[in-house]
Formats: sequence, C-alpha cells, structure tokens
Amino acid sequence: MTRNKLIVALDFPTLQEARRCVLTCAETVHYYKVGMELYYAAGNEIIAFLKEHQKQVFLDLKLQDIPNTVSRAVRILTRLGVDMINVHASGGLKMMQAARQSMQEQVQTLGITPPKLIAVTVLTSMDETEFEVLNYKTSVAEQVVSLAKLAKQAGLDGVVASPQEAAGIRQACGDDFLIVTPGVRPLGEDTQDQRRITTPAQAIKNGADYIVVGRPITQAADPQAVARAIEQEINFKK
Ligand code: C5P
Repeated sequence: MTRNKLIVALDFPTLQEARRCVLTCAETVHYYKVGMELYYAAGNEIIAFLKEHQKQVFLDLKLQDIPNTVSRAVRILTRLGVDMINVHASGGLKMMQAARQSMQEQVQTLGITPPKLIAVTVLTSMDETEFEVLNYKTSVAEQVVSLAKLAKQAGLDGVVASPQEAAGIRQACGDDFLIVTPGVRPLGEDTQDQRRITTPAQAIKNGADYIVVGRPITQAADPQAVARAIEQEINFKK
C-alpha cells in the first residue's frame, strides 16, 4: 500500500463542519491536519472522531514558548495518540531538544508509538518583503535550511516548509528527514494568503513527503473530487 501523501487541513470553526468534511472525503482522504482553530473549538472530540474513523492525525498547534513549558505541553499532546505534532524551530535548539526528550519519556512510560515531531521553519504565507522587515540577515530560503538543520540537530523527525524550499532541505538534511509542505495550490486555484507556493505534483517532485491542502479542498463544491484529482496528480505525475 502506498503511503498517504495528502494531508487535508480541517480549518473549520466547529466540530460539525469538520466531521461533515471528513465523512464527505472518507473514501479518498486518510490523513487530516487539526490546527488551532478547530482544536480550540472542538478539542479532543475531533481527535477521537478521526481515530474512530481510522484516520491519521497531524495536530498542528505550532508550539513555541520556553523549553520547560513546551516540553510539558508535548508530554500532554503525546498521550493523545496522534500521528504528528509540531513546534516552531525559531523557538531554538534547547526548546526543540526539550520537546524531543519529554516525548521520548512519555512514549516509554505509556508504551505507545511515538508521534512524528516536526518543526515549522518559515510560514508559507510570508514573502521576501515581509520577511525583510523582521531583520534577519538571510533570505527566506537560507533561513529555512538553517532552521531545518537546527531541527535535525535537536533530533526532530522533520520540518514544515514551503515546497519551494523542499529540495534545499532534502539536500541539507538527507533522505530520512520528513518534509511536510503547505503552500500547495492546484493550477488555476486562488492562492489566498499563501505566498511561497507550488502545485501538488511539483511539491512532491521537489522532495516533499506530505503535502497539506486546506481551502482548495475544504471550500470546494465537491471536496472529494478535488481531493481525488490531487491524489492522482501526486501519485502518477512524477
Ligand atoms: O487553506 P490552505 O491550503 O492555505 O491551508 C494550509 C494549512 O497549512 C493551514 O492550516 C495553515 O495553518 C497550515 N500551515 C501553513 N504554513 C506553514 C505551516 C502550516 O500554511 N508554514
């Protein structure tokens, strides 16, 4: 069986809407991302619902705080039984190491499979102009690769980045490092607030392991048809 490379972002304000989307796409989509909006609205009920339906879950809460606070939060999230969680790489090496360690301890205590722990590099909504205002001394692409290397050094499993940077990360961090790319838009779709984007096929070609797609599927008149078209595009067009 091929791995599910498509993760659908369930960016909904209510449990009901999220459940409807999951049931509509049930045959095609097997991996879902639960982000801040839905998790703050529906909490662990949406995780339980997805697990009851044998779906994989990426809990995208993008943790960033002092190492002690993040490691304690990761301990709680690890016991939810999700498949992937994340922190911000810009929280620093110590924060990421603390997250990794508390996850390992929790996994050992509970005897469960560890979720993948990945780090957000630079948000895909940010372009060079907006990035410049933050006064980093690098380009977005250099900053992304440098944060990816830091995440690897901290023992994390991979990163979230734009598909435009996937090839550089793959080269710098090797084949076993997971690359998850939002900022994906099928040709002709509205880009909304996303900036550093590619098509689904191009993202996979650039080295992404997973693509995250939200609005092009969740806001479509026929979400299942769009999801199916994306699945076909990424599985057959190399
Ligand atoms: O609707 P759209 O396809 O733009 O959704 C992309 C999803 O990926 C959103 O849930 C967003 O929070 C998330 N994301 C992102 N860029 C990152 C990390 C996560 O767009 N760097």
